[in-house]
Amino acid sequence: MKACLIRKYGNNQVLEYTDKHPVPEIGDHEILVQMVAASVNPIDWKVMQGKARLLLKYSFPLILGNDGAGIVSQVGHAVQGFQPGDAVYFRPGKNRIGTFAEYCAVDASEACLKPANLGFEEAAGIPLAGLTAWQALFEIGQLQAGQKVLIHAGAGGVGSLAIQLARNIGAHVITTCSSRNVELVRSLGADQVIDYTKEDFSAVLQDVDLVFDTIGGPSLPASFQVLKAGGQLINIQNIPTPESVADYDLNPLIRILLGLLNRQTTKLAKKHKVNYSYLFMKPSAEQLHQLKNLIEGGQLKPVVDRVFPFPQIADAFAYQQTGRARGKIIIKL
Ligand SMILES: NC(=O)c1ccc[n+]([C@@H]2O[C@H](COP(=O)([O-])OP(=O)(O)OC[C@H]3O[C@@H](n4cnc5c(N)ncnc54)[C@H](OP(=O)(O)O)[C@@H]3O)[C@@H](O)[C@H]2O)c1
Repeated sequence: MKACLIRKYGNNQVLEYTDKHPVPEIGDHEILVQMVAASVNPIDWKVMQGKARLLLKYSFPLILGNDGAGIVSQVGHAVQGFQPGDAVYFRPGKNRIGTFAEYCAVDASEACLKPANLGFEEAAGIPLAGLTAWQALFEIGQLQAGQKVLIHAGAGGVGSLAIQLARNIGAHVITTCSSRNVELVRSLGADQVIDYTKEDFSAVLQDVDLVFDTIGGPSLPASFQVLKAGGQLINIQNIPTPESVADYDLNPLIRILLGLLNRQTTKLAKKHKVNYSYLFMKPSAEQLHQLKNLIEGGQLKPVVDRVFPFPQIADAFAYQQTGRARGKIIIKL
């Protein structure tokens, strides 16, 4: 089958496009999906560059790709609820990635029927970013109607979905973006937009209930300043906390190291009397169902920036690495 894989860590030149890779074999609880589209997420090139290798242990050759949509072509003996021909969308488990391929094996508990009103390309942009936004806002953040939420990078893959999810439950949504994206994030439902090229969010905001920081770096310490006491900061971009990788198979020394690297953040959380969490998103068919319901109800829509043909996947990676994507980048498989 056709696949995009790597045989070693490195920059975009290690990406290999092949048409001779064996089709994966499925286990009893898995389905085989003939992929129609997949999305490019920052984690794809971070894995390619070996940036995640302390936490995610892969062997080579490794097919990249962390979410997508396609048609079920085979079901494992113990699988219930799916049959060949079903259109599905999914984010596979971290140890079973590989959506940049003609076929991908996925545990049936991680897949969901595709929203009926979306094409495969639009649907492929939802799973990883949508689950991340859902888990940050609702699972950890417990965001409620009337609360003030600051969502950083509202024009990005995660932010563009998070704005809509937060707005939909009646939260007051504040977001950051550059001038060219102000209209886009307003159209998604942001109540207040901070153009970071003109204003410093930490100078104009206060008493925020929840900050969802998708940028990290200097935006993390600055985000503590805008929260009310008892508020919450959820980060997906800096150094993971030991708690966020509790179910990862890690050397205990790595957990100690993560604790040490988070010391400054822990201190800031104490100083500002707020809760701090790092989120590593997880696959969830149940939450994909909730997203599907919202999409079919017209309350959530994906923003697709560009669609690349499969052989041009290296161009898609280069575009993702600019950090300027508006919504999602899709590979047509
Ligand atoms: N821990 C997890 O489980 C998890 C899950 C998903 C994603 N992530 C991480 O979260 C980050 C965001 O992911 P993503 O898919 O949303 O990325 P993305 O789509 O590549 O984000 C691009 C967007 O970031 C915006 N941006 C860049 N710098 C900004 C700034 N200083 N202030 C405000 N907006 C800024 C850009 O808007 P402008 O052009 O307007 O600047 C652009 O629209 C990535 O680092 C990713 O690895 C982590």
